[in-house]
Amino acid sequence: MSTLFNNIASLVSNTDAHFANPALIVEEGKIAWIGEASAAPAADARVDLQNKTVIPGFVDSHAHLMFAGDRAEEFSARMQGQAYSAGGIKTTVAATREASDAQLEANLSRLVAEMHASGITTFETKSGYGLDVETESRSLAIAAKHTSETTFLGAHVVPQEFKDKSDEYVELVKNQMLTAAAPHAKWIDVFCDRGAFNVDQAREILQAGIKAGLAPRIHANQLENIGAIQLAVELDCASADHCTHLTHQDIDALANSNTVATLLPGAEFSTRSRYPDARKLIDAGVTVALATDCNPGSSYTTSMAFCIALAVREMHVSPAEALWSATMGGAKALRRDDIGHLSVGARADFAVIDAPSYIHLAYRPGVNLISDTYIAGRAITK
Ligand code: NIG
Ligand code: FE
Repeated sequence: MSTLFNNIASLVSNTDAHFANPALIVEEGKIAWIGEASAAPAADARVDLQNKTVIPGFVDSHAHLMFAGDRAEEFSARMQGQAYSAGGIKTTVAATREASDAQLEANLSRLVAEMHASGITTFETKSGYGLDVETESRSLAIAAKHTSETTFLGAHVVPQEFKDKSDEYVELVKNQMLTAAAPHAKWIDVFCDRGAFNVDQAREILQAGIKAGLAPRIHANQLENIGAIQLAVELDCASADHCTHLTHQDIDALANSNTVATLLPGAEFSTRSRYPDARKLIDAGVTVALATDCNPGSSYTTSMAFCIALAVREMHVSPAEALWSATMGGAKALRRDDIGHLSVGARADFAVIDAPSYIHLAYRPGVNLISDTYIAGRAITK
């Protein structure tokens, strides 16, 4: 069964192809044809997109959706002057450990529905609010039912019961916790920063993960520069995330690597911190992804459009660059080539914007202009 989508005001494909009057045909979940509407071959069905805009679905390559509880009070205190620290994570850990599987899955499903409504068609999610063998492994087992992009983040922070015994905790993460988590995870991540894990600990954990068949990514340089970028490049991490505090050497290292710099401006917004220097990264030739970092502490948003607006307004990224980073950039951060672009053979993941062009994503901040989201050619109902 083939379906023609036409009457499209404008379309961003993330390829060299540009169409004045675009149309596309979807068959078996993939793009079977894309081109000028006047040249479209016959199809079994037709969807009139009512002169709206089509973009590749957003690829959210960094989120923390496996949690329970709420930290609104912490946010409120922060907005009144309290500093953000990695320690806040522990509040969520207590609630997450107490939550049943059904509660964790209901919370995840609610956030995923929000993501779909905001045009996200692929999301990554990390564990990291269990910090014990059982909760980390059940968090990932639940997540794996909803996405193939699951990340073991047992090394998010050192939990209370291992206070002043971080090396013992690292041993637990590298051994029993990794063994229990690995069957449900594709990636391994470490929060390598002040108040979390140092470079040597991060290296040990990521190497253990690689040995267990997981691919590495890393939280790097959000709060301080303790050398995490160099480690990211050394281990060929798919992505180094946050990248707020960087030296010239860090930027050079990223530019000469396969590691994507994933920027998470929702975190700077919600912690009232300095934004990363996206311009410097892009101008140096670093591949930049944009992601929501959806989590209950530092960035409780599922809106990629909001992150695009922040990137454009606060980080001097052009609307076109921001859209690329939120789609193709995210795909590269997940080392995926089947998503992030609209071309023949790609998965038919796209979002329909009720606006004449993608620029409206940043131009109309705070307004959800996404009218429809298609995953593998199937409309996701709001
Ligand atoms: O990406 N940086 C570490 N992890 C999250 C924050 C998690 C939290 O505060 O609960 C982040 O911003
Ligand atoms: Fe994060």
